[in-house]
Amino acid sequence: MILAITGPTSGIGSETLKGLVPDCEKALILARNPKKAKALIDSLPKDLQHRAIFIPVDLSDMNSVSKAAALVKKEVTQIDVLINNAGGIFQNKEVTVDGFELSFAANHIGHFLLTNLLMPILLKSKSPKVINVSSEAHRAARPDFNDLQYEKKNYSSFTAYANVKLFNILFTKSLVDRFGHKGLSSYALHPGVVKSNFGMDTSGVFKILWKLATPFMITPKDGAKTSIFLAKTKINKSLNGYYFKKSKPSKPSSEALSKKLRDRLWEVSEKSVANWM
Ligand SMILES: NC(=O)c1ccc[n+]([C@@H]2O[C@H](COP(=O)([O-])OP(=O)(O)OC[C@H]3O[C@@H](n4cnc5c(N)ncnc54)[C@H](OP(=O)(O)O)[C@@H]3O)[C@@H](O)[C@H]2O)c1
Repeated sequence: MILAITGPTSGIGSETLKGLVPDCEKALILARNPKKAKALIDSLPKDLQHRAIFIPVDLSDMNSVSKAAALVKKEVTQIDVLINNAGGIFQNKEVTVDGFELSFAANHIGHFLLTNLLMPILLKSKSPKVINVSSEAHRAARPDFNDLQYEKKNYSSFTAYANVKLFNILFTKSLVDRFGHKGLSSYALHPGVVKSNFGMDTSGVFKILWKLATPFMITPKDGAKTSIFLAKTKINKSLNGYYFKKSKPSKPSSEALSKKLRDRLWEVSEKSVANWM
């Protein structure tokens, strides 16, 4: 398997990479922190380390995503599995160099651009897969397509996060709509509530609730199980585009199943990154 994974330097992504690297001919690790990427590669068994290739990327910066996609294409001529795992919740509204709100950029639009730029080499694989790490938080989404960058209404970190996790599921289904007939499979998943670095950039009520929940959280190794299952398993065609929990298909919110919403999201996303496509 030739794997590309975002956000492998911490939590769920790190354990997903470790679980998959024995099955990989090459594993492209797309990360923003070179020191963490090196530490990750050093933590792999010695005989597997040469399989991991570090590709620098900041998913909130579209020039960086575009450069990363070009570097990936220099390293490999095909990708079998792309895992869009990086993400996070951000306490305060931040605007990226490209003018996007940070949660939208780091959780959705960076992956949208990356996946589209890598699509030609994904489609070279016999059975390409794109796996998007979403969340049960998507059920709290309240997206306003007239104000996706929070220019008019007040920013709420949790709603912004819930919205982009809904976008991860809508994006998954759109990928199947648009590339399923070319052999692409795509799945979204909820990893469980996992004790990782997630939520460390928050404060107030969310942080208190998150801390209280810590004793009930699963380990990153358990949180990686559904991603690993989806990457390694041949899934029945009828489940293409589905949302998974605990390695089983699960019904997402009704918004996540809306064709109208996903077409709208694709249209807005395509326009947002037109300069880099
Ligand atoms: N933890 C949970 O309970 C939970 C529940 C549902 C869904 N999820 C989802 O699971 C995924 C992984 O989260 P986690 O729990 O493993 O959190 P984590 O420990 O904070 O890991 C997040 C990863 O994303 C990377 N990342 C964040 N922003 C980035 C950017 N702009 N460019 C490149 N990489 C970036 C981080 O890089 P650095 O190492 O450099 O910071 C890190 O590798 C996320 O998509 C999250 O939404 C988590």
